[in-house]
Amino acid sequence: MCGIVGYIGDKDACEILVEGLKRLEYRGYDSAGVALLADSRIDVMKTPGKVARLEKMVSGPRPAKVGIGHTRWATHGEPNTVNAHPHTDCTGKIAIIHNGIIENHSALKTKLISLGHKFRSQTDTEVIAHLIEEFYSRTSNLEVAVRLALKDVDGTFGLVVMSASEPDILVAARRGSPLLIGLGDSENLIASDASALIRHTRDVIYLHDNEIAVISRKNVSLKNLDDEAIEREAEHLTFDLEQIEKGGFDHFMLKEINEQPETVLNAFRGRLIDDEGISKMGGLRDVEDKIANAKRFVILACGTSWHAALVGKYILEQYAKIPVEVDYASEFRYRNPVLLDGDIVWAISQSGETLDTLAALREARGKGAPVYGIVNVVGSTIARETDAGVYIHAGPEIGVASTKAFTSQLAVLNLINLLVARKRKTISLEQGREIVAEMHRLPEKIQKILDQTDQIEAIAEEFKESRNFLYLGRGVNFPVALEGALKLKEISYIHAEGYPAAEMKHGPIALIDENMPAVFIALGDSTYDKILSNIQEVRARKGNVIVIANEADGRLRELAKHIIEIPKTLDILSPILSVIPLQLLSYYMAVKRGCNVDQPRNLAKSVTVE
Ligand code: AGP
Ligand code: GLU
Repeated sequence: MCGIVGYIGDKDACEILVEGLKRLEYRGYDSAGVALLADSRIDVMKTPGKVARLEKMVSGPRPAKVGIGHTRWATHGEPNTVNAHPHTDCTGKIAIIHNGIIENHSALKTKLISLGHKFRSQTDTEVIAHLIEEFYSRTSNLEVAVRLALKDVDGTFGLVVMSASEPDILVAARRGSPLLIGLGDSENLIASDASALIRHTRDVIYLHDNEIAVISRKNVSLKNLDDEAIEREAEHLTFDLEQIEKGGFDHFMLKEINEQPETVLNAFRGRLIDDEGISKMGGLRDVEDKIANAKRFVILACGTSWHAALVGKYILEQYAKIPVEVDYASEFRYRNPVLLDGDIVWAISQSGETLDTLAALREARGKGAPVYGIVNVVGSTIARETDAGVYIHAGPEIGVASTKAFTSQLAVLNLINLLVARKRKTISLEQGREIVAEMHRLPEKIQKILDQTDQIEAIAEEFKESRNFLYLGRGVNFPVALEGALKLKEISYIHAEGYPAAEMKHGPIALIDENMPAVFIALGDSTYDKILSNIQEVRARKGNVIVIANEADGRLRELAKHIIEIPKTLDILSPILSVIPLQLLSYYMAVKRGCNVDQPRNLAKSVTVE
């Protein structure tokens, strides 16, 4: 999720690293740092905030011709100076930058502390530096030490290591996080993203998972983690910078929609205990019992996060049997709400900076309620001002319209539901295991939907001139209808409304005619037959329908021309799938109408005014 750059050559390494980091900063980072190697010693300089701050700090020519640089998107530990990368071992002779999450970091840390290692930061990354130090003391070989250390590590990494004892090499390794090596003339670079390399070279070698590279000025050698050599031809990059930053997608929004198999996996990563059919979340460890014994949850949020909260209500009431109230943060604050003993307040926010949500959580705290957060941006104000919480680990979301953060919020709400329901014994071990198993299958199912993008784009082409849309769903998919409508409004400026499908006949049906398409979420659950009747009602009034369904049966096929089939999953997990076609539909409608998808008019990514 972060930015990584490494350089070894005969130029001013610091200048090259900082310039590379600036290229990566479009993703919105929270702290930055470099480690420079000269005269057999490593100098580390780092700071919270933007790369521009780092640039000021390191300004002026520097002798180092070898170095590593990092812009962090924190997952473990606040974005402050100590937690910024690079991290070093106890001796300061080994420095590391890392992108990803080390799942077994606490166990490793405990072990390393018992061996006498001294930790400075709260990051998961620092354990790798000490682990390498441990193996280096036994092998005196950086490459071998990195390889042995990585055998003990669970989780994801893209990392680059350097050592003052072996000043002529950088060692890089990857599992799950991108890394590519840029091949120059008596110089080589490594980065997490081609945009940081392209000014220097267009000849690159992509590292694959579980591979390790030793990079010197003139050589690059690749091995797998079992120490077997690998041959790989270099590739020549032909695309332009703009394209690379968006990973080849036309817009950040489309890139973020397509990241969802991975981001949902990241939300679950290290948090599922398969055998016990339960979840564990580090940030809630100390308050698990309090949560399980709560009398009521009150969830506060705005916009898309509020829709996630509504899904949470359906899930938690049905499975954990806990009453849940969901409030617009802005309304909660000013209506003098009643909070009772045993209430737990949750604030959901992608940015962690939304002022309405922040003000509401302060109001709740003022009334003495414990407040927990479900937040994407680590160290954001809401993350800091809540008593405990869970990060959704969706990575930076750049598109103003929230997409991957929504599905990750739903993933985390499901984790909380699983924890509470199992602790309250409102679901059995078997049910818990079934949920966990299905959670593991979600990323693949999301991918199946993404593979149908062409069909969704064709539907957008047909409906791009419509001026109004209705979105209808029931139960846990009613909030998804609201979210589908919001997405369309935000980026294509088409008026859209979401309703519970059965509510249509109580009013909105008056709007239906051949110019008012209705999008139905009609999954194969207990309300399927009822929704079929609602679809019939629209068709009877010449309305066009687009239906998100599991497996379209004959009855549905007779009624609807446009059916988008999505894989079946458990009811409580279904919004994570059903929202994806709606995200894609709004995206293509906006593109076809010539709208600025990533920065729609009048909106901002984080709304810090009331
Ligand atoms: C979503 O597409 C929006 N742009 C907006 O509704 C957003 O969800 C809302 O402002 C809340 O933001 P937050 O999650 O960062 O608190
Ligand atoms: N997990 C690491 C941290 O929190 C790396 C985060 C990143 O990818 O920037 O520091």
